[in-house]
Amino acid sequence: MLRQIASRAVRARGVAARLIPSAAAAATTESVAIRALTTSAMKAGALSVPSGANGVNYHNPAPEGGYAFFMPRQSLIGPGALKTAGSIVKSLNLKKALIITDGGMAKSGAVKAVENMLAENGIEAVVFPGAMPNPTDENVADGLKMLKENNCDFIVSFGGGSSHDCAKGVAVVATNGGRIHDYEGVDRSTKPILPLVSVNTTAGTASEMTRFCIITDSSRRVKMAIVDSAVTPTIAVDDPTLMVKMPKALTAATGMDALTHAVEAYMSTISNPVTDASALHAIKLISAYLRTAVHDGSNMQARDMMSYAQFLAGMAFNSASLGYVHAMAHQLGGFYNLPHGVCNAVLLPVIQEFNASAVPDRFIDIAEAMGLGQLSSEEAPAKVIAAIRELSGDVEIPANLELLGAKPEDFDILAENTLKDACGFTNPRPASKDEIIDMFRKAYEQGGESQKKAASA
Ligand SMILES: NC(=O)c1ccc[n+]([C@@H]2O[C@H](COP(=O)([O-])OP(=O)(O)OC[C@H]3O[C@@H](n4cnc5c(N)ncnc54)[C@H](O)[C@@H]3O)[C@@H](O)[C@H]2O)c1
Ligand SMILES: [Fe+2]
Repeated sequence: MLRQIASRAVRARGVAARLIPSAAAAATTESVAIRALTTSAMKAGALSVPSGANGVNYHNPAPEGGYAFFMPRQSLIGPGALKTAGSIVKSLNLKKALIITDGGMAKSGAVKAVENMLAENGIEAVVFPGAMPNPTDENVADGLKMLKENNCDFIVSFGGGSSHDCAKGVAVVATNGGRIHDYEGVDRSTKPILPLVSVNTTAGTASEMTRFCIITDSSRRVKMAIVDSAVTPTIAVDDPTLMVKMPKALTAATGMDALTHAVEAYMSTISNPVTDASALHAIKLISAYLRTAVHDGSNMQARDMMSYAQFLAGMAFNSASLGYVHAMAHQLGGFYNLPHGVCNAVLLPVIQEFNASAVPDRFIDIAEAMGLGQLSSEEAPAKVIAAIRELSGDVEIPANLELLGAKPEDFDILAENTLKDACGFTNPRPASKDEIIDMFRKAYEQGGESQKKAASA
């Protein structure tokens, strides 16, 4: 058993070397890993802790050099956060903002909230409304052109993950040069980005506070994962009063995205006690409030708690990274231009079924956070997976990939690209290409009656 854990440790260290900068130089042998694990676990009393008591120890042996945590310089959360952001932005002594948003937020007039906030503080601004859902390399290039033409010295992103990611792309290329494609991978930039204030309106991707930037390469139809501590926004703003008008389907999709972040971060081979705490509390809040936020959108408590939940899930995955749900969802999103949260929601139970045989203990704390009580590692995986399916059905997420328009003949190329996506490197059970294809197929074929009904309603 220890040998199995240690070999996972060795694999995790390879991943950590890519995702945790301080661990890049760490290289130890398997026997050292076993000895270190045994000693530290015994010292901590972990070996006498009953199976499943995951919350009181590392899930994975710590990398040499420790873990790295990434956060914006300042995060403002709660009703009124946008107003507070105004005085903070003023103190940064910046002159002219490029507000990056999407066409919907510009057309509805919602963007006025940010324009007014800046104007009240004497800051000039121009609006770039070209961040499309699943933003592309072309959107980044267009935003950069407008930034230069207008001599803007900072960026405010306003909207959901698409606006923030497009803004991160513009901000990194503005100071580092080249094209956004040059930054695909981990920590590829060399210079700080332009100051970036991210005002979030969905709950959500947590992109307003993460070091992840997901941009579609329009010629390859692949979502590029840019994981770079430099793209972390300077200031994150999560004001739930900006989220109240989200329609039902958007609330559901973005809420399931946040749940996926929390579950994948908790499962990750580089999770640690800080990310575990964030992930479990996010799961608890989402289980308690997502249904209300979807079906009673004006309920401010549900909106407020979902805003915290998605931020907590962001804190978890920003440092622990994700797994195959995201690596596979990125392919579906890039290839078919589908909503990110819906892809995650459909894939989440299937990939967790795949993970259950490798890390059944990890489902115990998730079950408790979902309000399912204290279960054994034999009972917990099936109950958690059933509860995820039930929540998806209750918030009316379509049942399967067939309903989303995916085509089985594309699964081969989608699986090939999944294995290249940085988000999959930390999945607790490595998969072969055939296993990924099999998971796409299961997600295509699955469908409980309640979800089918919801999808056709
Ligand atoms: N960088 C990260 O850390 C990260 C993490 C997860 C997902 N993502 C990316 O984020 C993108 C998805 O972002 P998203 O799910 O937040 O949606 P989105 O930004 O694509 O927005 C979807 C739609 O919702 C509308 N909208 C946004 N806020 C609204 C509000 N308050 N009221 C009414 N309508 C509103 C927009 O106008 C848009 O039409 C994907 O491209 C995904 O890959 C990034
Ligand atoms: Fe996501």
